[in-house]
Amino acid sequence: MKSTMFLGGGRITGALLAGLRLAKNKTPILVHDRNEHKLRALEREYGVAVETNLGRAIARADRLIVAVRPDSVSEVLKQVREWRVSNAGKRNRAVPVLACSLAAGVPLWQLRAQLGRPVLWCRAMPSPAARSGRGLTALTFDRGFPKAWRGRMMKFFGQVGPVLEIPERKFDAFMVTFSPSHGYHALATMAQAAQNLGLERQAAFTAAAHALADAIASWREGDESLEELLREAATPGGIAAAVMKTMDSAGYSRMVERALRAGIKRSERIAKSS
Ligand SMILES: NC(=O)c1ccc[n+]([C@@H]2O[C@H](COP(=O)([O-])OP(=O)(O)OC[C@H]3O[C@@H](n4cnc5c(N)ncnc54)[C@H](OP(=O)(O)O)[C@@H]3O)[C@@H](O)[C@H]2O)c1
Repeated sequence: MKSTMFLGGGRITGALLAGLRLAKNKTPILVHDRNEHKLRALEREYGVAVETNLGRAIARADRLIVAVRPDSVSEVLKQVREWRVSNAGKRNRAVPVLACSLAAGVPLWQLRAQLGRPVLWCRAMPSPAARSGRGLTALTFDRGFPKAWRGRMMKFFGQVGPVLEIPERKFDAFMVTFSPSHGYHALATMAQAAQNLGLERQAAFTAAAHALADAIASWREGDESLEELLREAATPGGIAAAVMKTMDSAGYSRMVERALRAGIKRSERIAKSS
């Protein structure tokens, strides 16, 4: 049976492999990376097959997951293309026809142009929270991507958390919004502010984590609307209301939107330079 091949064995591959192991994934996995030490570490930690030679790896795969940084995508696909040309016509040497890129900002049309037919592309934006089985993944499919294969892709990423299909034109907006980096950043910022006010580090993190994570868990798990929950947590004229008012008048909402727009601009620059 052929494998799903990760091309690139870095941070997101590690997080996905951890989540797949947790989900008792049955799909054979093969990882190729140019750094042998990274491959050995993944092999040891997750029990996946690894292959240091790109050509030998491709020959063993029927599905390709491109997990290199956006500025390496062209180079890596050129290597795949060259391998494909030099192995044209050899039995059992076909390049996998199903390919999925995790690279931020690299659009489907560029991916399609790099490998040509018959390779069919989708893009996935997985979360490093996949590591704990809580990783939301967005997927977008190129035209002509067969329905049954869409299901296969969604099922594969669905092992590490919920999956959403998002049109490619909205992919960047999703990407800059869904990142768990927001949660980590808010946690670090709030806990630091609390320590500046005199709270011990441990208490500051416990309080800030409750404010962020437990509030969102209550909203997700309960029946009340966000407006109702906000009314309950912040009495008009009270302390929480004063804190929120100060944040809003200091430009909190504007600042968040500005930050997300900066992420989208960065993604557009990556697309132009890749
Ligand atoms: N990290 C995340 O949370 C996250 C989330 C969603 C999507 N993504 C996307 O996933 C991709 C990978 O991100 P990452 O954070 O995992 O990056 P990373 O940690 O740098 O991993 C990429 C790996 O690919 C290797 N590589 C690069 N070019 C190669 C080549 N030609 N042949 C073989 N191996 C090659 C790199 O080796 P070197 O170190 O030697 O360059 C590195 O080990 C990016 O495009 C990113 O946009 C990441």
